[in-house]
Amino acid sequence: MKALVLAGGTGSRLRPFSHTTPKQLIPVANKPVLFHGLEALAAVGITEIGVIVNAGATAVRTAVGDGSAFGVDVTYVPQDEPRGLAHCVLIARDFLGDDDFVMYLGDNVFAEGVGEPVARFREGRPAAQLVLVKVADPTGYGVAELDSEGRVVGMEEKPARPRSDLAVTGAYVFSPLIHEAVRSIRPSRRGELEITDAVRWLVERKHDVRAQVCVGYWKDTGKVGDLLDCNRALLENVVPAVHGAVDAASRIGPSVLVEPGATVTGSRIDGPAIIGAGSTVRGSDVGPYTSIGAHCLVENAGIEDSILLDRSSVRGVRSVRGSLIGRNAGVRRGARGPRAHRLVVGDDSSVEVPA
Ligand code: DAU
Repeated sequence: MKALVLAGGTGSRLRPFSHTTPKQLIPVANKPVLFHGLEALAAVGITEIGVIVNAGATAVRTAVGDGSAFGVDVTYVPQDEPRGLAHCVLIARDFLGDDDFVMYLGDNVFAEGVGEPVARFREGRPAAQLVLVKVADPTGYGVAELDSEGRVVGMEEKPARPRSDLAVTGAYVFSPLIHEAVRSIRPSRRGELEITDAVRWLVERKHDVRAQVCVGYWKDTGKVGDLLDCNRALLENVVPAVHGAVDAASRIGPSVLVEPGATVTGSRIDGPAIIGAGSTVRGSDVGPYTSIGAHCLVENAGIEDSILLDRSSVRGVRSVRGSLIGRNAGVRRGARGPRAHRLVVGDDSSVEVPA
């Protein structure tokens, strides 16, 4: 079995971060979202992985390399434009050959990995095996309808009036029958070749399409709130350890990872939290649910439920919550008086301040 990981697309809902970093490389729990996926695939013994990347873009190739860091062998498949999930299957035909494969959306995180759908597929050998999640508002997802035996009988992409509350997640296991399906469908109203339409094509031709409801934590990290939610969930599993230097005046709670070269002085760290390699935390309260990237500076600050990307800083501000702070970005207390906010905010950014 092979895997096809989709790491192209636009990431428009994650601007401004996606202006400079593909959305799949934004870290949660100090590891790019995409790496969580590659590790999940390696964990089920898949070693041949095709990765869809935007043609001409190099960030994913630089980060993932030949895959050896994950124990896998990566083949890159460039896509000229984001023409849809089924288009990715179409252009990966040579790489996929006639093998079964897992199609994995590179912005999805499954805390329990993909062992369950792969095992179910191997057991029953359906044409396709999907993973579903019950959601309160399915209108932003592919939506599946099941019969009483767990067979998929209907599929729709982002329907205005969903026929069930079962959203399709970003892990699909396909037999080679999917190739005929992706060749047969036409672009949707939004101009994309939808994998949902390809799966419906299989269903309408009475091929066996199965689904199971995901038991563990799952998230499509399409928006900032989703990244923070995912960060909270993954930090629950952090393996606590202190590899850096912590002085006697600091208090480190349970579920805290202090990475090598990090320095914590006169601070309180409430887990779950990670202090990234080479970062400095001084006179601050950090956590819970906070991931501080590498080489950050946190000084006389209070940060909770947030992600700081590499080389960012927060100084003299005690009330940072629910925040995502980009690489090299700085947040600091201003010198223009208590009621003044001095804002230098990049394109497509958003800032919330007290009234
Ligand atoms: O996350 C689950 C949802 O993913 C499903 O419920 C939907 O049925 C499915 O269509 C998809 O919807 P999204 O709108 O979230 O897809 P998105 O555009 O975010 O793309 C998913 C991943 O695939 C993302 O990592 C970008 C990549 N991609 C996307 C397109 C359209 C590509 O590599 N090439 C593409 O052409």
